[in-house]
Amino acid sequence: MTNPRYLVTGGAGFIGSHIAQALLAQGEGVRILDDLSTGKAANLAILEGPLDFARGDVRDLETVRQAMRHIEVVFHEAAIASVQQSVADPVETLAVNLIGTQHVLIAAREAGVRRVVLASSAAIYGDPPELPKREDMMPCPISPYAIHKLAGEQLARVFTRLYGLETVALRYFNVFGPRQDPASEYSGVISRFTAALAQGRQPIVYGDGEQTRDFVYVADIVRANLLAAAAPEAVGHAINIGGGTATSLNQMLAVMGGVLGTSIQPIYRDGRPGDIRQSMADITLARRVLGYQPQVAFLDGMRHTLAAMVPDVGVGDNESGDRARHEHTI
Ligand SMILES: NC(=O)c1ccc[n+]([C@@H]2O[C@H](COP(=O)([O-])OP(=O)(O)OC[C@H]3O[C@@H](n4cnc5c(N)ncnc54)[C@H](O)[C@@H]3O)[C@@H](O)[C@H]2O)c1
Repeated sequence: MTNPRYLVTGGAGFIGSHIAQALLAQGEGVRILDDLSTGKAANLAILEGPLDFARGDVRDLETVRQAMRHIEVVFHEAAIASVQQSVADPVETLAVNLIGTQHVLIAAREAGVRRVVLASSAAIYGDPPELPKREDMMPCPISPYAIHKLAGEQLARVFTRLYGLETVALRYFNVFGPRQDPASEYSGVISRFTAALAQGRQPIVYGDGEQTRDFVYVADIVRANLLAAAAPEAVGHAINIGGGTATSLNQMLAVMGGVLGTSIQPIYRDGRPGDIRQSMADITLARRVLGYQPQVAFLDGMRHTLAAMVPDVGVGDNESGDRARHEHTI
């Protein structure tokens, strides 16, 4: 295989595997660097095309240097993507999420990479009441995870300023779609509710269900990444990527029930301390500098997600889930 131009760190995970799939579908060569800590071999197995998989840890600079050879663009997705794990183990999370990011930036600079697109998070905003969240608002992180993501953005900006390495950080809001792991707390409420329904359990809602999230379908996240790899004006920015609408958990359950043809009765429990009440992205900057516009309506995203994840409840099968992915991944 000729040298791939693209490196996706964390490419065996949920979002990274969709990015890799979209690049491969465009005929591009892709290298994935992943330690398979939360990523899955099954996510790699479905990738078709010139794929080069390097099993390794972003905490090891030499490993990252090896993976960076001849690369032109990096999509840095590798992280411990769990707020709660960052609270339980801030030392390890810092090592992966911030030092790992520093290694990616160092190795990218040394290898003459043109651009690094980094996965950041809406978590950096914390929980101030102002909505929608705009990039010029003061960040107010309330977890080690959010601190590490914010510091990673800043570090990337410093590399741009000091060395001219092009960097773009994307602040993802609540991403959902096929292949999201329901076992992880951060993987999001949609995959956890889907898993509960598939197992015949009632989903558990913490609080009154009126808390809102800005859900964004994974194909839109992929689209934003590919735009960020090329857009000249994006360099040096941290940019919100969301669907641009707020949906309450109760509304979400109603949509899910509609797709499944059933009425979902959740179990309501006390709200969890630290849970963010309202979240919604202002995506004006993404529109302006990336030309980003979310294209998958919430209902359609939910249909594809359920079809891929709950084959036995009659909304489709895995094949239709795969078809949906191809239709919507650029
Ligand atoms: N899913 C969301 O809603 C969301 C929201 C905001 C930001 N993000 C960010 O997006 C990125 C992708 O998240 P995801 O939801 O696909 O999570 P994921 O857990 O599915 O993917 C993360 C990948 O990184 C790999 N990884 C973890 N530690 C590693 C290490 N030390 N070395 C090499 N690889 C390592 C894992 O094996 C996994 O494949 C992360 O940076 C996450 O913080 C996700």
